[in-house]
Amino acid sequence: MKIYRTTDYQEMSRTAAMILAAQIHLKPDCVLGLATGSTPIGTYEELVRQYQAGHLDFSQVKSANLDEYRGLTRDNDQSYYYFMQENLFRHVNIDPANTFIPDGSQPDPDAECSRYEAVLAQLGGVDLQILGLGHNGHIGFNEPADAFAKATHCVDLTRSTIEANRRFFEKEEDVPRQAYTMGVGTIMRAKKILLLVSGEGKAAILREAVAGPVTPRVPASILQFHPDVTVIADEAALAQLDA
Ligand code: GLP
Repeated sequence: MKIYRTTDYQEMSRTAAMILAAQIHLKPDCVLGLATGSTPIGTYEELVRQYQAGHLDFSQVKSANLDEYRGLTRDNDQSYYYFMQENLFRHVNIDPANTFIPDGSQPDPDAECSRYEAVLAQLGGVDLQILGLGHNGHIGFNEPADAFAKATHCVDLTRSTIEANRRFFEKEEDVPRQAYTMGVGTIMRAKKILLLVSGEGKAAILREAVAGPVTPRVPASILQFHPDVTVIADEAALAQLDA
C-alpha cells in the first residue's frame, strides 16, 4: 500500500486526477471504477477541466460505478446515476453506452445484482478503481459485517451511513434504507485501486483501515491485501498515522 500525503483536499483531487488521466493516456479504452460521495467531486472537476483544455479524451473510456441506492430512479437528484451525470459524464465526451451503474429502480435485488456482475465480467474487469471511505470504514456500500461480501449484492444501510448521508436529503425518512453495491470481492478484482480520503473526520477510520487488523468490521481494511493500492489523503486525514 502506497500512501501519498497531500496538503489539502485540492491537492488530493489534483493528484488523483493526474493518475486517472495517466491511466486514460496509457490505455484509452480502459475501464474506470467510479465512486460517488463528496470526496471524489474535486477529482471529477479536475478531469473536466483537463478535458475542456483539450488534454483528455474519454471517447473510448468505459466506466462502472460502485453502487446505487435501491428504490431511487435515475431522474432522482439523489441517485448516483444523477450524481455521475452532473459531476462528470455530461461534461466530457464519454459515450453514455459505455457507462454502467447498478439500476436502483430494479425491484428484484437478485436479478439486478447478477445482471451487474455480468456487466462487469463482460467489461473484462476494472483497470483503475476509485474509492472513498465511509465513516464506519465502508467501501462502496459494503457496510461493517461478519464477512466480506464477494459479489454485487443488496445491502441494508447502517444507521451511521443513513445519518452521514442525511445531509443530501430533505428529511431523514427520504434517505434510502438499502443499496446495490459491488461486493468487496468485486472491488478487490480491480487491477489498481486509488483510495481518496480527506478531512479530520476520517482520520481515525483511515488509521484503522490501513494500519489496523484486516476485518470485515472495517471493510476497507481488506485493501491491505490488494497488490496495488494507492491511498491519496490530505494531512488532516493522515493526522493519526505517521506516514
Ligand atoms: C457513500 C458512498 C461511498 C463513499 C462514502 C463516503 O455513502 N456509498 O462510496 O465513499 O459514502 O462519502 P463521502 O466521500 O461523502 O465522505
